[in-house]
Amino acid sequence: MADDTTDTKSSNQMWGGRFASGPDAIMEEINASIGFDKKLFAQDIRGSIAHATMLAHQGIISAEDKDKIVHGLNTILSEIESGNFEFSRQLEDIHMNVEARLATLIGPAAGRLHTARSRNDQVALDFRLWVKEELQKTEQMLTHLIAAFLDRAEEHAESVMPGFTHLQTAQPVTFGHHCMAYVEMFGRDRSRVRHAIEHLDESPIGAAALAGTGYPIDRHMTAKALGFREPTRNSIDTVSDRDFAIEFLSIAAIAGMHLSRLAEEIVIWSTPQFGFVRLSDAFSTGSSIMPQKKNPDAAELVRAKTGRINGSLVALLTIMKGLPLAYSKDMQEDKEQVFDAAESLELAIVAMTGMVRDMTVNTARMKAAAGSGYSTATDLADWLVREAGLPFRDAHHVTGRAVALAESKGCDLAELPLSDLQAIHPDITDKVYDVLTVEASVASRKSFGGTAPSEVRKQIAFWRARN
Ligand code: ARG
Repeated sequence: MADDTTDTKSSNQMWGGRFASGPDAIMEEINASIGFDKKLFAQDIRGSIAHATMLAHQGIISAEDKDKIVHGLNTILSEIESGNFEFSRQLEDIHMNVEARLATLIGPAAGRLHTARSRNDQVALDFRLWVKEELQKTEQMLTHLIAAFLDRAEEHAESVMPGFTHLQTAQPVTFGHHCMAYVEMFGRDRSRVRHAIEHLDESPIGAAALAGTGYPIDRHMTAKALGFREPTRNSIDTVSDRDFAIEFLSIAAIAGMHLSRLAEEIVIWSTPQFGFVRLSDAFSTGSSIMPQKKNPDAAELVRAKTGRINGSLVALLTIMKGLPLAYSKDMQEDKEQVFDAAESLELAIVAMTGMVRDMTVNTARMKAAAGSGYSTATDLADWLVREAGLPFRDAHHVTGRAVALAESKGCDLAELPLSDLQAIHPDITDKVYDVLTVEASVASRKSFGGTAPSEVRKQIAFWRARN
C-alpha cells in the first residue's frame, strides 16, 4: 500500500471545481488524513453500501446505479484487504480515496453515491462504527482479564498476605480477596464500556453537512442496516459530536489507571525484598550487565502505556473544547488519539491477563510477611472489646501498650507471655492467643465483602454468575 506523495499542481478532483490550482505541498501535508484514517476503510465501505441501498430504496438513485456502486465498493474492499490498493495523499482521506477509485471502476454512477450525504456525517459514521467495534473488543478482553483473576482468587481464597495502607502492613488479608478487588475494578470498567456502547448506538448518516437534507432519505433504514439502535436526532449535534470518542478515551484512561496500579503492585511484589510473586521468563527480561536480574518489563510498560492514554484523552478534550458548532477540521485530529489509545489499552489488558495467569505466588513469603508488623493488633483490640467488655477506644490503648512492649522485646504479639499481657490488662486470658494468628484474623472478618475465605468464595460465585 504505497502512499502517493507527489506534489502536483492540478486542482483536486473531488472538490476542485472552485479552485484554480492544486494545494501547496504544505497544505496537502497538513490537510491529508489518509495516513491514519485508512484504518476506517471497512467502516467507510459498509456505510456507503448501506447509504446507496437506502438511496435506491427511496427512489433517489436507480437500482441499476446502486448495483454498480455496491459491486464497485465490494471490489475496493477486497483490493484494500489484499493490499492491492494505492492510497493517494492528494485525495486527502479514506472517503475520497474510496470514491475516486469507485469512479475509475464504475464510471459516472460513482458520482451518485454522495447524494444526500457529506463527509461530515460520513466520517462521524465511520468513526462511530470503529469505536463501537473497539468497545466490543474491549468488553471481551476485560472479561478474559476478570476470568483470570477469578481463577487466581479461587486458588488463593485461603492464602494469607499482608494487607496494606500507606504501603505499611495494616491487617492480614487473603490473596484471593486482593485479586477480587481487581475483579471489582475491571468489572466497573466493563460496565462503563457497556454503557458507552449504548450511548453511541445512534446512526449519524443522513445528518449531511449539518442541516439534514431535502432528499427523501430514510435514516431509520440506514441505522438498522448498520446495526444501530436508531438514528441521531439533531443533525447539527451529529456532525459536531465526538463524545463517543472522548468516552472511549475516558474509559481507557480509567481502565489504564487500574492496570497501572496492578502493574505497580506486580513490580513491587516481584522484587527480591517482597518476593510475593515470580513472573516466568515469558513476562520478564534479564539485564545485559547484571546476570542475577529478572526485570518485570511487561508490567513496567503497562504502567507507562497509561501515560499515553491519559495524553490522548487530554489532547482530544483540548481539541474539542473551543470548537463552535458544527464541524471544524480540528476534529480530524480525533482519530490518531483514539487509535493510539486503543492499541495501548489492548496491549495492556492482554499483557496483564497473561501476567495474572503466569505469576507464581509464593504463599510462604506472603504468610510470613502477613504476620510481621503487628498486623493482628486490631484482632487483640477486638478481642478485648468482645471478651473483656472494654470500650473500643480503651482496647485500642491497651493494645498499643502491648505492641510497644513486643517492639521493645523484639518479638511478635503472639510471643508475649501471658504474664506480660496481664500486666497490661488483668482481664486478658490465654484464649487471646487464638485470635493472634493471621489465619484466625482473616477467618474472623466475615462481614459482607470482608476478607474471610468464606466471604471471598461468595464474591467469586457472584462474579462467575455475572459474566
Ligand atoms: N478527513 C475528515 C475528518 O476526518 C473528513 C471530513 C471532512 N469534512 C470537511 N468538511 N472537510 O474529519
